[in-house]
Amino acid sequence: MRIPFNRPSAAGKELDYIQQAIDNMHLSGDGPFTKKCQALLEQLLDVPKVLLTTSCTHALELAALLLDTQPGDEVIVPSFTFVSPVNAFVLRGAQPVFIDIRPDTLNLDEAQLEQLITPRTKAVVPVHYAGVGCEMDAILEIAQQHGISVVEDNAHGLLGKYKGRHLGTLGCMAAQSFHETKNFTCGEGGALVINDPRLVERAEIIREKGTNRSRFFRGQIDKYTWVDIGSSYLPSDALAAFLYAQLEAREHIQARRKRIWEYYYKNLQGWAQDHDVGLPVVPTYCEQTYHVFYLIFPSPAQRRSMIEYLNALGINAVFHYLALHLSEMGKRFGGRTGDCPVTERISDCLLRLPFYNDLTESEQACVVSAIVQFEV
Ligand SMILES: Cc1ncc(COP(=O)(O)O)c(C=O)c1O
Repeated sequence: MRIPFNRPSAAGKELDYIQQAIDNMHLSGDGPFTKKCQALLEQLLDVPKVLLTTSCTHALELAALLLDTQPGDEVIVPSFTFVSPVNAFVLRGAQPVFIDIRPDTLNLDEAQLEQLITPRTKAVVPVHYAGVGCEMDAILEIAQQHGISVVEDNAHGLLGKYKGRHLGTLGCMAAQSFHETKNFTCGEGGALVINDPRLVERAEIIREKGTNRSRFFRGQIDKYTWVDIGSSYLPSDALAAFLYAQLEAREHIQARRKRIWEYYYKNLQGWAQDHDVGLPVVPTYCEQTYHVFYLIFPSPAQRRSMIEYLNALGINAVFHYLALHLSEMGKRFGGRTGDCPVTERISDCLLRLPFYNDLTESEQACVVSAIVQFEV
């Protein structure tokens, strides 16, 4: 028996659509499938503009460029996250300011936000961990009072909601991921969701190597030229074709993931309670995306033994983010042990269980029975 942590799968129409992309003779960026994906996402999220990108990392870089992030600016990011939301701003010369997370949802602790804001703060990047919304009402209010931008890292949260509003539509921009570990994928891919219409035209320029090529293709100008800084953030239309098939199958995919998440929750709840193991917390006003299922062990040693035990059985359960403020780079920016105590505990004690669209109930039954047989 081997149950991987992640196994990407096709939803059905991917190969047909890739063939169509070949037949269209448009395999570079911004072809018919890119436009279809963007239009579908704009309609689903009800936002002015979505631009597909080569990754969520690149969508975040695009956001940092659009905000004119300069050396000396500060950006507030949770320490318990992936490197991309911080790297995107550090690339522009910004200083990261790490904020701790809440012990329940593992999202940034909005109660600590205001004290970290200085006159140099450019932006805050809430990350909706596991597709459960951050406390956006408080975050948006504080950001507005201090005139700082909110860029959502919604890598886990496409189609999730906070108080009835879609994640990714609440800040001025949001970054999505279509990496193969995500609910909807094209292997490597992402999108920038632009909620402030004033940012759209420049976003198109930066994404097209600093040229006004998008306006040229729309027939708004008769030649295109270099007008701003920029880079190449367009995915191939073959990847967009793959992604379109996944987005079309979104309801089916999400229904499967909901079943998988609920199976783990129902069958591990009693064991977790008896062994003082934490399970995911989803506030009633959040519609989560069933992206991750995790356990929080009382100690790092217990997590380590569980990982070793499951791996020996062929079950690939994995930890998640290491605290960014204690990473080699984080320390160079001044991070010290004790700065973000909840992050430090969670990054040492959290374990993610195998979770992918095609995970079967019998595979899940093996995972659950292995866990409950182990003496924590
Ligand atoms: C919270 C978060 N943001 C950004 C990323 C980067 O996504 P991508 O691989 O699409 O660049 C990840 C990757 O898993 C992530 O977990």
